Amino acid sequence: MRNTLIETARNKLIFALDADNYEEALSWIKLLSGYVGMFKVGKELFTAVGPKIIESIKDRGQKVFLDLKFHDIPNTVARAAKAVVRLNIDMFNFHASGGSQMMKEAVTAARTCVDEIAGVQPIILAVTVLTSLNNADLAEIGFSRTTGEQVLHLARLAQDAGASGVVASAQDIELLRSNFGNEFIIVTPGIRSVGSTAKDDQKRTLSAYEAIKKGADYIVVGRPISTAPEPLEACRQIVHEIADGLESK
Ligand code: C5P
Repeated sequence: MRNTLIETARNKLIFALDADNYEEALSWIKLLSGYVGMFKVGKELFTAVGPKIIESIKDRGQKVFLDLKFHDIPNTVARAAKAVVRLNIDMFNFHASGGSQMMKEAVTAARTCVDEIAGVQPIILAVTVLTSLNNADLAEIGFSRTTGEQVLHLARLAQDAGASGVVASAQDIELLRSNFGNEFIIVTPGIRSVGSTAKDDQKRTLSAYEAIKKGADYIVVGRPISTAPEPLEACRQIVHEIADGLESK
């Protein structure tokens, strides 16, 4: 029973592969394959090394979240979405603030491309409001809603456009879950363990246990694993926290 729960918990852990070179990324993939559910490749790593990092992850039978947060005219994002699907990734994202038409065209292009190549449907996520922005930042760029209101508004557009879910900060999980139901996927970064005293750039943090208990489907974890004295042990602890969170629901 606990073993099945641990397996389920592991599948919910996404490791942020935040490296700027292939060798370092590959050493993390070798170490953590089988211990996390997915590897997140972001702008830094993808720009530095390109698609071969995706191949290296897939060659080991692991899953990939390509975190490139597309935001452009609908035609461009739709074409990028197709290119992403051809890379055989499992999850990718765009900015909801690109608008309904951009999101709809990207979702349609991705789903059509999957059918054409008989691939696996990726989870398509919308980024609502970056966690680095507060109400004053939104006002500065001309938005009158609060961050919470804007998150809900953009999540609604994303759901209507056919996105599978959203990337959401810890503080938005409960509101999103209660408004969008259980099928809407919520992926949450900014995870720090309860006892963590580390000071870094993540401000609105939550433990893996709390995030899962509140309703996150996946959590993204980088430095709590990569800077731990024993990364594999840190990884195991987080998986157990996720399992406890699942059990408490
Ligand atoms: O090291 P840490 O656990 O903070 O890594 C979090 C990862 O999640 C990073 O790759 C970061 O880019 C990403 N992320 C985030 N906050 C968001 C969206 C993504 O920290 N709002």
